[in-house]
Order: sequence, then structure tokens, then C-alpha cells
Amino acid sequence: MAHVARQITPLGSGAASLADELAAAIARDGPIGVARYMHAALQDPRFGYYTRRDPLGAAGDFITAPEISQMFGEIMGLWFADLWRRQGSPAPARLVELGPGRGTLMADLLRAARAMPGFRAATALHLIETSPVLRAKQAWKLADNLPEWHERFDQVPAGPVFVMANEFFDALPVHQLVRADDGWRERLVENDGKGGFRFTHGASPTPLANYLPPRAAMAPPGAIAEVGLEGRHLMSEIAARVARHGGGALIVDYGPAGDSLGDSLQAVKGHRPHPVLSDPGTADITAHVDFAALAEAARAAGAEVFGPAPQGEFLRRLGLELRAQALKTKASAAEAQAIDAAARRLTAPEAMGRSFKVLAVAPPGAIQLPGFHD
Ligand SMILES: C[S@@+](CC[C@H](N)C(=O)[O-])C[C@H]1O[C@@H](n2cnc3c(N)ncnc32)[C@H](O)[C@@H]1O
Repeated sequence: MAHVARQITPLGSGAASLADELAAAIARDGPIGVARYMHAALQDPRFGYYTRRDPLGAAGDFITAPEISQMFGEIMGLWFADLWRRQGSPAPARLVELGPGRGTLMADLLRAARAMPGFRAATALHLIETSPVLRAKQAWKLADNLPEWHERFDQVPAGPVFVMANEFFDALPVHQLVRADDGWRERLVENDGKGGFRFTHGASPTPLANYLPPRAAMAPPGAIAEVGLEGRHLMSEIAARVARHGGGALIVDYGPAGDSLGDSLQAVKGHRPHPVLSDPGTADITAHVDFAALAEAARAAGAEVFGPAPQGEFLRRLGLELRAQALKTKASAAEAQAIDAAARRLTAPEAMGRSFKVLAVAPPGAIQLPGFHD
């Protein structure tokens, strides 16, 4: 009877916060994996971080490249329009954005892509977004482009897909593993007995260790590693679609270019670091994107992969400095300064230029995509 009640009662129904909801679930069922904790913190239907708020901008918790400057989205627009033309201007095609935030990137991308005759008429706009708050902002900004929203990429209708994702993959849940004497065990979250949470680990080695790179075998006891299964799965879906129907994808995010070990889970609130296990649902939680794993998933699905290239180099190769010059011709002195500051922030190695990377996925046989070579 208790078992039946467990299944039909929504998790933690009646709880006043996500912390209460998770604490009740853990007390009842035992510790939960980091991936489940992260998913609940970001996506819980009642208390999830993205469910309840627009986190972007100076008054929010963080700022993203398209919110820093229109140049970012414009360059992406020219890149996609060029890729579309190189593939023989397919029509109809799907222009897809994963996690479009306020719709700023897509608005800038579409404006710039107007320079390519036929691109706009040939492409239908599809937005993958779970947040009702951000969907409303996107509807307002992109109304003229008649977007269609989906919860997941696999709901986008068949045909060539041109997929943009900026700071999306870092929001997908990761599993964490801890090195023990007998192998890797899954890192879990348990109640700390004082009204909060703490990390623990599983009682025996986890098969998730099969996803780790070979050099993980040398890691010392206590080392932490991450496996982003959801990101890998999504990448392989996108790449399979691109390989079969044509199109391409640009993934922009932060993380190391090669495989790496370590704990990259971080929470941010009001532009400041926040303890990952405190007040889930009230702070953004991200993990570094494992570009090596995404590239491997895309290749295994039959696509061609380019990069990852550092964001600064990618934007410079595609003419960010020229675009800044052009914008400055019509700007006041103060505006010109702001344009220069934004260009620096997007490209300087000590700002976003090196830590953020760009990975492209294209159909098999594609050669030399712009932005990935001098
Ligand atoms: C960090 S924001 C980036 C917004 C935008 N791309 C930008 O650069 O400003 C992450 C976006 O992804 C959405 N998102 C996060 N996880 C998601 C998921 N699993 N499925 C769909 N959308 C998601 C959020 O609601 C938000 O729009």
C-alpha cells in the first residue's frame, strides 16, 4: 500500500520549497544522484530555477554573450546563412535554437541573415525552451518570425536543421563520480541532519565509469569526474539528424577543449558564487561542457565535427572587429566605448575569449567551415 501511495503522490507535494521537497524524497527513498539534484534545481515544475524566473542581465544572476552585444548573434546569423547556401539553399529547412533565453540571440541572428536572399523564407523557426517565463519573452521578441516551441529537440519536424545553442549544454545535468579504492562510485546528495544537504557516494562502483576517458584510471582516491549523459545523448540526436537530413549546429559554451577530470559544478546567484547544495532552485547551477565527449558523440552519429575553437578566435576570424568598426561609425563617443568594451569582453582571452569554445557539427564530407581556420 505504501508503495502504491509513493507512485501516485507527486514528489514532495505540499512542500514549501524545493529543499523541502528533495529532503522528503531523500528521507523516503535514500540519497539522489547529482544529475537528479541538478535537474530538479533547474527544472522542477514548481520550484525550478528556470521555471520561475528570467535570470539574465544586470538585475539577474548572470549575463550571456548575446546580452553583451548584438555582434555575437549577427555573426552567428551570417555563419548559418552561409552554411545554408553552401548546402544548396535547402527549403524548407528548420532553424532551431536550444534555450533561447530572452530571444536576443535569435533576433540578432535573423536580422543579419536577411543579407542572404531566400534564407528567411526557406527556414521555419523552432525554439526548444522549458521555461514559461522565458517563452513569454521570446514570444514578445520574435513574434514576427512565427516561432514554434518544443520541450525537446526530437519534437522538431523532419528536414534539414540549423541548430544554435549558446550556454545551453552547461545547464544539462551531469553525473558526478568519486574515485574510491575499488573504482569509481557515483557521487550522491543526502540530508545532513541539520536541515541541509551534503555529498556522499554510492555503496559500490558505478557502471557510469565506463564513460570516463582512459586516463581516469590514474586518478587518485577522492578525485571527482563528471559524465554528462544528457548532453551526449542530445548531441548524438542532433548530429544524426544533420548527417541524414543536412544542416549544421553551432554549440557555444564554456569548458575545456580536451577531456578533463574534476568537479566543475557551480552555482551562481546575483552574479556571485553560491554554495551548490544551498537553497536549490534559487541559484543557477551549471557544469563545464565536455567538448571532447560531445565531439565524439557527434562523430559516432556520422557527422563531421569542427573545433572546438576558442570563442575569441572564432569571432575574430568572422570579422567581429570590422563589425565593431561599422557600428561605431554611427555611435556617440560613449556608445563607441561600450562597443569596444563589449568586443573585448567577448574576445579577450582573460574574459570570455578563451574559456568559451565553439564546436560545429556538419554533414559528412563538409570541409573547412568559416571560423575554424585562419
Ligand atoms: C543560460 S540561459 C542561455 C540563454 C541564451 N541562449 C543566451 O545566450 O542568452 C539557458 C537557456 O536554456 C533554457 N534551458 C535550460 N535547460 C533546458 C532544457 N533542459 N530544455 C530546454 N531549455 C532549457 C533556459 O530556460 C534558458 O533559456
